[in-house]
Amino acid sequence: MNKPSGRKINIGICGLGTVGGGTLALLNENEAEITQRVGASLCVSHIASRSLNQDEVIGIPQSGKDPFAVVNDPNVEILIETMGGYEPAFDVIKNALLNGKHVVTANKALIAERGNELFEIAESEGAVLAFESSVAGGIPIIKALREGLAANKINWLAGIINGTGNFIMTEMASKQCRFEEVLNQAQALGYAEADPTFDIEGIDAAHKLTILSSIAFGIPLRFDGTYTEGISTITPEDIRYSDELGYCIKHLGIARRSKKGIEMRVHPTLIPRSRLLANVDGVGNAVLVHGNSVGATLYSGPGAGAEATASAVVADLIDLARHSIAGADKPVYPPLGYKQMLDDIEIVDIEDIEAEYYLRIPAMDRVGVMANISSILQSYGISIEAVIQKEAISKIVPIIILTHRAEERKLNLAIKAIESLDDVAEKINRIRVEPFDETEL
Ligand code: HSE
Repeated sequence: MNKPSGRKINIGICGLGTVGGGTLALLNENEAEITQRVGASLCVSHIASRSLNQDEVIGIPQSGKDPFAVVNDPNVEILIETMGGYEPAFDVIKNALLNGKHVVTANKALIAERGNELFEIAESEGAVLAFESSVAGGIPIIKALREGLAANKINWLAGIINGTGNFIMTEMASKQCRFEEVLNQAQALGYAEADPTFDIEGIDAAHKLTILSSIAFGIPLRFDGTYTEGISTITPEDIRYSDELGYCIKHLGIARRSKKGIEMRVHPTLIPRSRLLANVDGVGNAVLVHGNSVGATLYSGPGAGAEATASAVVADLIDLARHSIAGADKPVYPPLGYKQMLDDIEIVDIEDIEAEYYLRIPAMDRVGVMANISSILQSYGISIEAVIQKEAISKIVPIIILTHRAEERKLNLAIKAIESLDDVAEKINRIRVEPFDETEL
C-alpha cells in the first residue's frame, strides 16, 4: 500500500450545528479511510461556532465564535460553511474565496439565491465553491447530473427533495393524522429547517430545484422563476381519496424542458402508486432524471439529517483536497456544469403548464350538482377521467374528479366558475397529477 504523502491539508469549519457537527464527527470517525483515499491527511485546524461548546472542539488547534477569524486564517486551505442562513454566510464564503480558499457549503438558500454572484467570484479567483450537500442530503445528485449525465440533453427531472415534507406526508398517510400533528416530530428529529415554513411551504425544495434545474438545463440560477406551493392544504381525506384512485401524494420538485421554455415548480403531486418515487417514504429523498440518451435514472437515499448530509460535505472536501494536491490552478468542472449558460431561455409561467388534475369539490347534496360541474368543465374543454362521490359530511358531499391533461389557465377559470355555483359550499382543493408514464421511463 502506498503511504500517505505526509501532506496535511488544514480545514476550517464555520458553524457547528447539525451539519457542521456531523461533518466533524465523520472526519474523525473515518479519518483513516479518508487519508487513504486522498493520500494526505485532512486536519480540522480552526472552528468557529456561535454557541461554542468546549467539549466539541477538544484537540482542535484554534476555535472561537468569529467565522471571519477562520476566513482570515492563512493556514486554512479549505473552508466549510455550515452556518446556514444568508448573512453572514454570504460574506464568509465571498471573503474566503477572495482569500484564495476553496469552499464547501451546504447552504442551498444561498446557492439558489446568490450562487450566480458567488460562482463568478470563485471563477475569477481560481477557487472552487462546492455544494453537493445543498441538494438531497447524502445523495450525490449534483455529481450525477453534472458529471455522470453530462452527455445527455436532460428532458425533465422530478424529485422528492425535502425530507421533512416527505416525512410529514408519509406519517399523514400511514396514520391518517393531520399535518400539524407530525410537524413537531420532524423538528425533534433534526430534519426541519430553523424556520420550518421553508420546508412546509416548499421554499427549501424550491431552492434545491433551482440548483438542479441550472445544472440540468444550463440556465443561470433562477429562484425567482420557481413556482412554489406547500403541503399545509393537504388533508388526510385527500390522501385517502387519492389512494382509492390508485395514487399517492408526494411533494415534488419538477423541472421540465418544454416547447414553451423551462418549467420549474414545487407542489404536492398525485403520482401512481406503482411508480418507484411513490414508494420513497419518511425522510427519504429521490430524484428521477430523464436524459435523452440514457432514459430515466433514479437516485434515492436519505435527504436530511447530520450523518447523511455530512457524507456529501466530506465528499466535496475530498474532491477539493485532491484538487489542491494536484496543484490544479483552475477548477476542472464549471460549477453548474456548463461553460456557456443559456441566459435567454423563457421560464414558463405556472398558468401555461399542462397537467392532469385532482379536484376535491365540497358540494351540497342536491339534485343536478354533478351535471352543473361537468358542464362547466366541458365548457372549458376539460375532460373528466374519473369521478367518485363520497358520503355526505354535514350535508356536504365531497366530489372527487380526476381530469385528463389540461392547460392550467383553463382549469383555474373552471375552478372559479364551479366555486361560484350555489351548490358548492367551500373552496375546491386542486392537486396536480403527474403520471410519469412508463413510456417516459
Ligand atoms: N430541511 C431539509 C429537509 C434539510 O427536510 O430536507 C435538508 O436540506
